[in-house]
Amino acid sequence: MKNSRPKGSVAYNNAGRVVLVSGGAGGIGRAICDAFATSGADVVCLDINADAAVDLPEGIAFVAGDTSQEDDCRNAIEFAVQTFGALDVLVNNAAIQPPSSYAPLHEFPTELWDRMVGVNFTGYSLLAKHALRQMLKQDNGVIVNIASGQAHRTTRGVPAYGPIKAANLLQTRQWGVEYAREGIRVVSVSPGAIRTPLVEATLHEQGGEAQLANRHPLGRIGRPDEVAAAVLWLASEDASFVTATDLEVDGGLGAFGAFADPYPMPDS
Ligand SMILES: NC(=O)c1ccc[n+]([C@@H]2O[C@H](COP(=O)([O-])OP(=O)(O)OC[C@H]3O[C@@H](n4cnc5c(N)ncnc54)[C@H](O)[C@@H]3O)[C@@H](O)[C@H]2O)c1
Repeated sequence: MKNSRPKGSVAYNNAGRVVLVSGGAGGIGRAICDAFATSGADVVCLDINADAAVDLPEGIAFVAGDTSQEDDCRNAIEFAVQTFGALDVLVNNAAIQPPSSYAPLHEFPTELWDRMVGVNFTGYSLLAKHALRQMLKQDNGVIVNIASGQAHRTTRGVPAYGPIKAANLLQTRQWGVEYAREGIRVVSVSPGAIRTPLVEATLHEQGGEAQLANRHPLGRIGRPDEVAAAVLWLASEDASFVTATDLEVDGGLGAFGAFADPYPMPDS
């Protein structure tokens, strides 16, 4: 299929908009930071990994913090507003899925459960809570929650990640409904497998790269910039009638459903 612009290039003008991305130092979050910065936005990257800040290009501001901690969330939002004067877009992206989380529920470590709820669910709400206070003053804003294909359907060995990601979908709908009349849109993106440190670390648990790629009708796993492109569209005026809903960016993975494993693609 021919494309009118080079792959990965950014078609939006976000000059003058202020964007905060959690977990923006690596993986999908980094691609989202880069895409917004390339399109002219003032970008704040909030990440627990302060070491990664040195790799960020000039033009992306860094705030160290843990999204499961309300003070850190409040601090990051205040930094964005004090530094750039507003907050137009929040991308709730920081989440964890360590290899040790691939375990059946009866063996699942409760401390890890609490941590995953704290980051992957509560963290999204805490950051949104403080972002919304600013967006309500402005009468506008967009919140994009990064959910997952695992929010929609499930498999063995993911008793925490999937159910908690499913909660991201209801956070999106509930906040979207609550704040629609205040000029604030809330949407989510559910990626399929995307090549990031999170996925690289769990390739073994997911059956290896070839099998993972094969589960996607497009025959490959995705790139972080392909998720970023969807986020930029959803955050743009082109998506002005889109709220309280989710977009799967998954190479068709979701359409395979239960048939993914027994019926691999013919060229596998
Ligand atoms: N990679 C995939 O295939 C995939 C698929 C579906 C959904 N997702 C979702 O996409 C998002 C990004 O995933 P990724 O693959 O880029 O992950 P990643 O592990 O590669 O990067 C996550 C980033 O978040 C940061 N982070 C982790 N915990 C944090 C915390 N408590 N506070 C602040 N920052 C924190 C990390 O330091 C890192 O920079 C997540 O919400 C994930 O669930 C990823």
